[in-house]
Amino acid sequence: MILWYDFPMKKKIKVGLIGLGTVGSGVFKTLRNFDYIEVSKIAVRDINKPRNIEGLDKSLLTDNPYDVVNDPEIDIVAELIGGLDPAYDLITTAMKNGKHIVTANKELLAKRGEELFSTADEYNRVILYEAAIAGGIPLIMPIKTILAGNKINKIEAIVNGTTNYILTKMDVQGASYEDVLKEAQQLGYAEADPTGDVEGFDAAYKIATLSTITFKKRIKIEKIYREGITKIRSQDMKAANDLGYKIKLIASGKIDENGKADVRVHPMLVSKKSTLAHIDYVTNAVSLTGHPVGSITLSGPGAGEFPTASSVVGDILAISAELGTSDYILPMMRCRHAENADMTDISETENKYYMSINAKNAMGVIGKIGNICADNNISLASIVQKCVSDDNTADITVITEIANEKAMQNAVKLIEQDGNKVNSLIRVQV
Ligand code: NAP
Ligand code: HSE
Repeated sequence: MILWYDFPMKKKIKVGLIGLGTVGSGVFKTLRNFDYIEVSKIAVRDINKPRNIEGLDKSLLTDNPYDVVNDPEIDIVAELIGGLDPAYDLITTAMKNGKHIVTANKELLAKRGEELFSTADEYNRVILYEAAIAGGIPLIMPIKTILAGNKINKIEAIVNGTTNYILTKMDVQGASYEDVLKEAQQLGYAEADPTGDVEGFDAAYKIATLSTITFKKRIKIEKIYREGITKIRSQDMKAANDLGYKIKLIASGKIDENGKADVRVHPMLVSKKSTLAHIDYVTNAVSLTGHPVGSITLSGPGAGEFPTASSVVGDILAISAELGTSDYILPMMRCRHAENADMTDISETENKYYMSINAKNAMGVIGKIGNICADNNISLASIVQKCVSDDNTADITVITEIANEKAMQNAVKLIEQDGNKVNSLIRVQV
């Protein structure tokens, strides 16, 4: 066998996998290329399920994941089942039993990361999670090591492959939302319950962890403002295109000089001149801005069997390389963010907006909309009315200058009270 990477190991490292689905299968197939790694046990839900893995030794399979975490021979456990339960207890038990952990579970890290990292400290174990943010893109390792000398104060990212795939196909091919979602599920991109993807939960979990390690303060998931893509209409995509924008689901984080963080997930009109506008299909991208590096963007496949396996395997190999070298391995990769960040509420933020209004075709309607905006301190950058429909209404598209969120919501309420329908309000990249 030709080995991809030859590392002088004292003994074979034993790895236990929990989960052999999309990610677990890719990890198993990739680990076969390393003769000093032995996958010695694999937990699945159904040991009789047919699996697309040539030569899989079925005797490795168990339907009791505690067989993996309680096995005294196993050095590293890779948790690849997702969700909170039983994943939390399995990881905790594994660490108490002396195992290091690799996980792709963004929901668990966002919701119970603090407790898990405390247990890791207490038992002197590491938890690595490169696959949990942007699939195959290396992010955590670069941020914790080579970018450690930076103060990064801004993140703007596309971190959900499923929604980016859906938005791209709707935009480029005019495909229907339902059809593309099914396709993303078949390709193994979507979560078991795709609501997590399309309503922005998955991206919120990812930006919670990413901003915590980047800003070095804990960002609480429940304080993150979140909107998904389910209300985006094909008319909005077309109108955005005509105005020089693309619509993307953006996860963003900013931290000001007083340490106050603004972290959110919502659709955004991004200028066609920006890098993120050209990140299509399942590709993810993360732009980081800080000093001294300036702005950098890391991009690559954000989901799927092998890209995700690349990150999980990288973490397993990083731990394997250190095992037996020191009692305190990978110090730079450990979690040190005990202090919670003070968070800005969305109502206090300042944004530019795209607004699509269905208005009655009456004299002075545009003037009235303009007046309502002006009364709320909102200046308009552009206002466009296209032809009148058979029902004697017209669609009016507005782009504002930077305005306060609370004022904008008030303006929307007043525009609707005046007999119009605000079909869409989407923030615009500044
Ligand atoms: P998946 O295809 O649904 O696979 C889940 C695996 O876990 C299956 O093998 C299943 O067994 C097993 N499993 C579930 N509950 C179990 C239990 N209680 N005990 C033992 N085994 C159990 O999921 P996935 O897409 O690989 O995702 C796994 C994790 O990676 C999730 O945290 C996900 O968010 C994350 N992730 C996924 C991707 C991606 O592109 N898919 C990318 C990054 C991160 P059976 O096979 O018998 O059903
Ligand atoms: N469901 C996730 C996505 C998988 O579509 O991005 C990768 O984390």
